[in-house]
Amino acid sequence: MKQKIKIIQTIIFIFFISFPFYANAMTVEEIIKGRKAMFSENYQNAKKISILLKSKKIEEAKPLMKKISDNYKKLLDYFPENTKEGFKTEALPSIWENKDEFNALMQKASDDMIKLAKAIDTAEDLRAVQKELMWSNCTACHSRFRAPH
Ligand code: HEC
Repeated sequence: MKQKIKIIQTIIFIFFISFPFYANAMTVEEIIKGRKAMFSENYQNAKKISILLKSKKIEEAKPLMKKISDNYKKLLDYFPENTKEGFKTEALPSIWENKDEFNALMQKASDDMIKLAKAIDTAEDLRAVQKELMWSNCTACHSRFRAPH
């Protein structure tokens, strides 16, 4: 019995000392470059969506909307406290001062891409619906949380 407790204690101990290591496995550089890459990918895909919808290729545009939505969800974890500066980040300090609001905007941007994938089946004005559910979210967030360039 005592032996078992010792083993369990050892396992718990190892878990706790190794946990911070895994939690911080990504370096600041990897995080900042990683989020920039995801935003750039989203931008490329958003432009592709516009082109596809112009020629009414609705089904082809849908997987790209899902991809953007998934990237936004991943991005929620790409703004830890220790990534406020360096590596040419354009992220403004206001992100960390208003973290709940920033995360809510990110989540909304993600949800709106899923809404967009549904809306394009019936929307009469594809441009208007893209503006409402895709492009307006970029501007809403950049105007407050990304440095002007
Ligand atoms: C919830 C906030 C938010 C939303 C929504 C958002 N962005 Fe951004 N975006 C940012 C922030 C913050 C940065 C700066 C990241 C950095 O430099 O660390 C950024 C950076 C970028 C960059 C530059 C990436 C680089 O290589 O430096 C591009 C391009 C971009 N966003 C495009 C878009 C487009 C297009 C949309 C909409 C389809 C969008 N973003 C939606 C917050 C957002």
